Amino acid sequence: MRVTVYDPCEFSAAAAAFVAARVGDAVADRGECSLALAGGSTPRPVYRRMADIGAVPWRRVSVFFGDERAVPPDHAESNYRMARESLLRRVPVDPARVFPMEAEREDLEAAARAYEELLPRSLDVLLLGIGEDGHTASLFPGSDALAERHRRVVPTRGPARPHRRLTITPPVIRDARRPVVLATGSRKAEPVRRALEAASDPEECPARLARDGDWLLDREASEALER
Ligand code: 6PG
Repeated sequence: MRVTVYDPCEFSAAAAAFVAARVGDAVADRGECSLALAGGSTPRPVYRRMADIGAVPWRRVSVFFGDERAVPPDHAESNYRMARESLLRRVPVDPARVFPMEAEREDLEAAARAYEELLPRSLDVLLLGIGEDGHTASLFPGSDALAERHRRVVPTRGPARPHRRLTITPPVIRDARRPVVLATGSRKAEPVRRALEAASDPEECPARLARDGDWLLDREASEALER
């Protein structure tokens, strides 16, 4: 686990620079980068800042998603829409290398199976968030998806709206080269502590699955951690 704590007013720019550097590292090492984006509200200002960083080798980047809500891609609750507006339409990424989860399909099982075929075995950079209940991607506490050992994308239901979702499973987090968790604000302090320090297990705090990754926090989200 590597925890970096930023001043709240510096968080977005610093996290954007961190993620851009990891994308650059992957391209330098392997000639290309598979980047999976997180949803929710925390990444939006980070994505905006990333779009302003000139040096990112976007033509070598393939973009995936860690979860999606069962809404059309132009819906206000769509993670794809958030990513497109804040980042993807503002950078020279190849549209053929952007892979939204098709969570608007009626048959979510088929959409999950199709996405499994697209996902690389090891994502180079996997961005994640953490919910107040400790969820990450759309892996909610107590969810059957947490028991998955082989499936890599599954339909699920969560307590948060919209309830129906697609999500990556624990093996995808485990196999990612670089999981990066973004968390800001005091409401994330307790779940961050449970994910990193408490003797919790992923069943009750799914974000613990990313414990070995990089955790980029603002000061408020780090407040419950022992110093
Ligand atoms: C989603 C997410 C989810 C999110 C957390 C944090 O689709 O809801 O991907 O895992 O990252 O809920 O969300 P906030 O950043 O909005 O607090």
